[in-house]
Order: sequence, then structure tokens, then C-alpha cells
Amino acid sequence: MESSILLFLGSLLLHAAIGQYNVDDSGGTGPKFDGIGGLSGGGATSRLLPSYSTEAVSQIFDLLFKPNFAASLQICKVEIGGDGQSTDGTESSHMHSQDDENYHRGYEWWIMTEAKKRNPNIKLYGLSWAYPAWVGNGSGSPYKYPELTAGYIVKWIQGAKSTYGLT
Ligand SMILES: *[C@@H]1O[C@H](CO)[C@@H](O)[C@H](O)[C@H]1NC(C)=O
Repeated sequence: MESSILLFLGSLLLHAAIGQYNVDDSGGTGPKFDGIGGLSGGGATSRLLPSYSTEAVSQIFDLLFKPNFAASLQICKVEIGGDGQSTDGTESSHMHSQDDENYHRGYEWWIMTEAKKRNPNIKLYGLSWAYPAWVGNGSGSPYKYPELTAGYIVKWIQGAKSTYGLT
């Protein structure tokens, strides 16, 4: 998983050892604190997780997502696989081509589902690091044809809902 999560766990233990952090959220008009999140993405960063034993994976998910237990993450952000090298590896897209749709590829659906099982209130977040070439309609850019890019992302959101009940 993310080294940032490990760092976070480390600092959590440090704070626990030193004392208590008080957050005053009683007033003001500043930005709202939405919680603390973890990220699976930016290029196949969780690729090895499915290879661990069921028991070990279950413990890792508990440590990350179970409320009032270890990290207790409040946001789970995942990569929307885009069939392209997005830093450390490649994650599979839900649409290899414009007429292809599959919501069972890769491991991000599984991670979100396991997060939600442990914390039904966890917020989910998806981000593309890469796009299949067809999204650019031959331009090489996912920003030249915004209706294609928006449609592609909307399909992912709809697939998460219809296939897994994830919002
Ligand atoms: C893709 O590009 C072609 C030719 O450049 C254009 O005719 C077509 O409308 C474009 N597709 C979309 C969805 O914009």
C-alpha cells in the first residue's frame, strides 16, 4: 500500500505517545475538515495487495478502514485505471474502447467494496492518471474532446453504482 499511509500510521503513534490533538470545529467560515483519506493509485501502487493471504489482506483492510481502530480512514481514493503507465505500473480501464464496458477489471473495485464494508460512511473518490487513447479521439489529449472524457468518467461512476452499489 501507500508509503504515505505507513507514514501517517507512524505519526499517529507518535501523537498518541505525546498527547492529544484537539480540533476546534465549533465555528468560523473556513474550509470544512472532510476527514483523513488514503489513496490506492497513481500507478498500480496496490498491485501486490491481492497476492497476500485472505487473512493478511483482511487485517490490512481492518487497519485502514475500520472506524475507531488504527487509521480509521474517512476517505478512500482510488485510481480510475486508464490502460496507461501512470508511474509505477498500469491499471486496466473499464473501457478499452468506446464500445467496451467492464466493471470487473483490476483491484480498485475490491478495495472500495472492502472499505465500504468496514465503514459504510467512508467517502469514495476516483481520479484518472491516464486515459485510453480513444478518449482523446486521436488528438493524444483527454482534454480536447471534453464530452468523450466526461462520458468516460460518468460511465465509471455509473458502473460503481450499478455493479457494486458504490457512490
Ligand atoms: C473525433 O474526431 C473526428 C475527426 O477529427 C470528428 O469528426 C468527430 O466528431 C470527433 N468525435 C467526437 C466525439 O468529438
